[in-house]
Amino acid sequence: MNRIRRVGVVGCGVMGAGLVEICARAGLDVRVAVSRRSRVAAGRQRLLGSLDTAVRKGKLTEAARDAALARVSFTADLGDFADRQFVLEAAPEQESVKLDVFATLDKVVTDEHAILGSNTSSFPIIQLARSTDRPGKVIGTHFFNPVTVLPLVELVGSVLTEDETTDTAEAFVTEVLGKQVVRTKDRSGFVVNALLIPYLLSAIRMYESGMASPADIDKAMKLGCAHPMGPFSLIDLIGLDIVQAISESLYGEYREPHYSPPPLLSRMVSAGLLGKKSGRGFYEYAPVAAPAVRAAA
Ligand code: 3HC
Repeated sequence: MNRIRRVGVVGCGVMGAGLVEICARAGLDVRVAVSRRSRVAAGRQRLLGSLDTAVRKGKLTEAARDAALARVSFTADLGDFADRQFVLEAAPEQESVKLDVFATLDKVVTDEHAILGSNTSSFPIIQLARSTDRPGKVIGTHFFNPVTVLPLVELVGSVLTEDETTDTAEAFVTEVLGKQVVRTKDRSGFVVNALLIPYLLSAIRMYESGMASPADIDKAMKLGCAHPMGPFSLIDLIGLDIVQAISESLYGEYREPHYSPPPLLSRMVSAGLLGKKSGRGFYEYAPVAAPAVRAAA
């Protein structure tokens, strides 16, 4: 039986909320840290919304939803992570923020066996590891959006990650969270994004060249290749800012032109058109109705 029962999740955005949900649904005690107290309500709403969707789709009973919610506590102070055995970091994709989170976690988490995992899709794991005094316990745990639905986790060991850390993380992610794992080296993009991002960038370049509309390119890839969604819907789901960050990371590492962000992507990010989460990207999205607020810790 896996010994990990107390999990910490840093951030309650799209990915963080998904991580909180799967951990709480797996029966774990979950503490989630947001950047400031005023962010708690938004994080909780995101969590509630997704749990309610699961209930609506028949994936979860109402009782199980309420039990999962009762296992989640929010904080705006990483000091409350002292007793956590596994931390999943899903803070914004900004280097200074992530480095600061890892340096703080290193100071506050008391269990020397605790594992510090990052959901980063664009920063080298070794950099996060080196901001701690326990680099052997730091590992990339890269989940996919939507976290509740997609089964894959890329496990990314840096050159300093201990084998025991990788083995424990794999057992936790598979046996407790019910996901499937691929182990990959600490290289920009890991496996999935190194293949996916050039494809998404090519779709933007195709649109910029005037060849076809986003809707038609999406339709072509859905109907012609049986992809669940076309590239523009997927970019909107991932977030244009995230696609840009991964693109810059890949280009910075390999200097290959097909990894460089197309101008349209950069301009849309500057304009705040970040995709589904901001209400507009390549498509427009109706604001999500806020679910009724229920009592939660
Ligand atoms: N909990 C549990 N299950 C849920 C759920 C929830 N909160 N919400 C939905 N589901 C289930 C549904 O019941 C359904 O399961 P079923 O087929 O067994 O009934 C399944 O999830 C699909 O959900 P929907 O029917 O609501 O929606 P769609 O069929 O339209 O699928 C989608 C939506 C899952 C987003 C699908 O279009 C898809 O898989 N798209 C591709 C997404 C993708 O490629 N993501 C990877 C992005 S890359 C990434 O994340 C890495 C990062 O670093 C960039």
